[in-house]
Amino acid sequence: MIVAVRGKLKKMSKMKTMGYKMKKLFVIVAGFLLLFALPACGNAEPASNAEQSAEPPNATEQTLESDEAETETSKIPKAAEQKEADTMKSLVVYFSWSGNTRSVAKEIQQQTGADIFEIVPETPYTDNYDELLDIAQNEKRGNARPAISSSPGDLDEYAIIYLGYPNWWADMPMVIYTFIDDYDLSGKTIAPFCTSGGSGFSGSVGTIKSMEPDAEILDGLHVRDSGAANPGSAVTDWLGKLNLAG
Ligand SMILES: Cc1cc2nc3c(=O)[nH]c(=O)nc-3n(C[C@H](O)[C@H](O)[C@H](O)COP(=O)(O)O)c2cc1C
Repeated sequence: MIVAVRGKLKKMSKMKTMGYKMKKLFVIVAGFLLLFALPACGNAEPASNAEQSAEPPNATEQTLESDEAETETSKIPKAAEQKEADTMKSLVVYFSWSGNTRSVAKEIQQQTGADIFEIVPETPYTDNYDELLDIAQNEKRGNARPAISSSPGDLDEYAIIYLGYPNWWADMPMVIYTFIDDYDLSGKTIAPFCTSGGSGFSGSVGTIKSMEPDAEILDGLHVRDSGAANPGSAVTDWLGKLNLAG
């Protein structure tokens, strides 16, 4: 009996020893496998690094380029916006003898926030209406260019010029011709306005167009002299139609 038990125990310890040996073998095989597998992984990595190392510089370049591009493009609109804002300034330029056109000019300035410049002839006109009629007629016949006493300065910053005058002898006063001759209004938008005893612009808008062919001439505003003291609503309507309301 004891011998039989010993035999069984021996068998069991043998099996245990075999189990250990199997485990040992498994560990060795796994170790080998790992040894081979690791270099393979090691090779795989540099390859992917190589691929990646080709990409990042490009990617970096692209990032830089696109960053630069973004900066550039984000600068351009800002600069353009600034320029547009600067050049979108408007100026009211007018001549008035008895105040009607001045009243309209000031209303336009008030409603638009434009700068304003009054054309004052170097040689002032007489205060006498009848004499003025003759003087004006002679200037027109002689295609005169009465000198202007001061300058509005550089008009580059203005995109829109509101140009106002009274109707004199179915035309603009000749001092307006002087202004148009002296200043290049190419590329600008001209919004003419005029006061009269009833003739309206006569042919003066067409004259401005022919003298400033590279300017955009908008529909003008005519105010009768009888209504010139209160031009508010006429100016509001006109600016609204032109989309120029301030
Ligand atoms: C010399 C002169 C000529 C004028 N010629 C005309 C004309 O041909 N047609 C017209 O309707 N009004 C004419 N008028 C009237 C003015 O156009 C009108 O009173 C105008 O509103 C005056 O503007 P002001 O006050 O800005 O000078 C003339 C006025 C003057 C002084």
